[in-house]
Amino acid sequence: MCGIVGYTGDQQAAPILLAGLEKLEYRGYDSAGLAVRDGERVPEVVKAKGRLRALAEKTDNGRAMRGNCGIGHTRWATHGEPSENNAHPHCTDDRSVVAVHNGIIENYQEIREKLIKNGYTFYSDTDTEVAVKLIDHYYKKYNEGPLDAMARAMMRIRGTYALAVMFKDYPEEIFVARQDNPMIIGVGEGESFIASDVPPLLPYTRKVYYIGNQELGRLHKGEVTFYNIDQEEIQKELVTIEWDAEAAEKGGYEHFMIKEIHEQPRAVRDTLNSVIRDGHIDLTEAGLSDDVIRSLKRIYIVACGSAYHAGVAAQYVIEDLARIPVRVELASEFRYRNPILEENSLVIIISQSGETADSLAALRLAKSQGVPTMAIVNVVGSTIAREADHIFYTLAGPEIAVATTKAYSTQLVAGYLLGVQFAHVRGTITEEKYEELLAALQELPDQIAKLLEDDKERIQWFAAKYANAKDVFFIGRGIDYAVSMEGSLKLKEISYIHSEAYAAGELKHGTISLIEDGILVVSILTQEALYEKMISNMVEVKCRGAYLMGLTTAGNYNIEDTVDFAVYIPKTDEHFTPSLAVVPLQLLGYYVSVSKGLDVDKPRNLAKSVTVE
Ligand code: F6R
Repeated sequence: MCGIVGYTGDQQAAPILLAGLEKLEYRGYDSAGLAVRDGERVPEVVKAKGRLRALAEKTDNGRAMRGNCGIGHTRWATHGEPSENNAHPHCTDDRSVVAVHNGIIENYQEIREKLIKNGYTFYSDTDTEVAVKLIDHYYKKYNEGPLDAMARAMMRIRGTYALAVMFKDYPEEIFVARQDNPMIIGVGEGESFIASDVPPLLPYTRKVYYIGNQELGRLHKGEVTFYNIDQEEIQKELVTIEWDAEAAEKGGYEHFMIKEIHEQPRAVRDTLNSVIRDGHIDLTEAGLSDDVIRSLKRIYIVACGSAYHAGVAAQYVIEDLARIPVRVELASEFRYRNPILEENSLVIIISQSGETADSLAALRLAKSQGVPTMAIVNVVGSTIAREADHIFYTLAGPEIAVATTKAYSTQLVAGYLLGVQFAHVRGTITEEKYEELLAALQELPDQIAKLLEDDKERIQWFAAKYANAKDVFFIGRGIDYAVSMEGSLKLKEISYIHSEAYAAGELKHGTISLIEDGILVVSILTQEALYEKMISNMVEVKCRGAYLMGLTTAGNYNIEDTVDFAVYIPKTDEHFTPSLAVVPLQLLGYYVSVSKGLDVDKPRNLAKSVTVE
């Protein structure tokens, strides 16, 4: 989704804004723009459709735009086609108000009509231009300054926004406001920054403020003041970001995705170590006491996309080990289906970004019904992390590639840790089993590292061979079905090859009619009790012409009698096989995309942090 940056200080703003936007490219965008002002002069606005490169060329890498204060934006079109005209920043005709905006203003039509009656005209199709002109309207009508105009606009606007605004009469200052869209304010020596996410800030400062919903901020050079919507000054905590700047760079890898795939052993180890202490899982930091765990009658896991797939895997683990009924749901469905949430339930929201609009709405729905909530989140200080009752941070570090890999892997681990600990506290596993499971968990990082070492080249070769496939099926049973879903999504989202995940036993109920000569079927079979059933399903598709890739545990070498291409994962406890099985599938998606020469890290139409529903 859109990205916002802002700067006021003593340096030239445009190169800093461009560098910041580059760090937000992963969010997905189709046009970009800058507004920079030199002292008291009105801001100069430059925009370009397409990649950021076009904007950099137009501005001579920012050198052609003089000034120490500015705002920048990458736009992911919602209202109006991707075009230079619709790109941000948007401004009034006299450029007295210039702004960038993330989010959606739902009642923009109604506001637009009101403004037309007041003599305003519109040059774009965007809701943002409407917001800018509404602020301008209040600014001129009441003459009470920028905060007043913005607060009035906030009361009139329905929807979501992160807004950064420059007013002609207030040189060297940027005014910001927020409702349900991410925005972070950084402060350095004599300079202040705005960004939608942490990476653009890291080269300059680690000291940040998180602005809350319905709050406003006024940025001067190196100083920020915050206000509530009644324009009363409020105090905010200055937080230090722990991520190091290198974590958000490619570090010699061709793409962020492959770098992040290789970071999985570290990410999984850090996440495990954050709660395993002295040979025990300790969830006290998440605030989950043993009494709460014992009282649980039902768990709802709610998430989107890959995070949902991690939730499906967690369901198998928690139900099997802790014997607590778990229901996993897509956040976009959960939020609108008026769910019946039983007493003594826990709603777990899983989200890498902590900003996904549907997941956030699901969290708020659960809270409004008085049900305790827990968030498994990667981004510290994100909205979901701040609003949930309990928080389990995954320690994946910044994830830049749009297709998640390391964050998904840490979400899996968070699910296992909850399952194992819930089982231990509720006495559904023995002490011996608990220790065995903990030992298996702690082996996972090295096993993932080994898989990466052993399998990369073979998968690369196989991916090149299948890069022209039209349809691919991923099949599995039990927890392998959860991994099939993630493998299928990884392939389709970055290679644009149609693929579907199926519970292997379900194929016969319709889908098998799609199987024809040469179609690739990726079969995952890591569960001993389901192994033979899987082989039967695989034979059924093979005899109809499918080309079979089999992904199974080392030792099951007889699989070679059935499949055309076999991949083995190291032995682990069967609850934890998703962490290993997903690695070759991530590599498969990655190398198919590379073979096709596609933009691996920024697949078309996708955004990293989906802040609109
Ligand atoms: C796919 C992917 C998405 C996200 C989904 C949820 O590779 O990354 O499916 O998993 O958009 O995002 P978060 O986890 O940020 O809530």
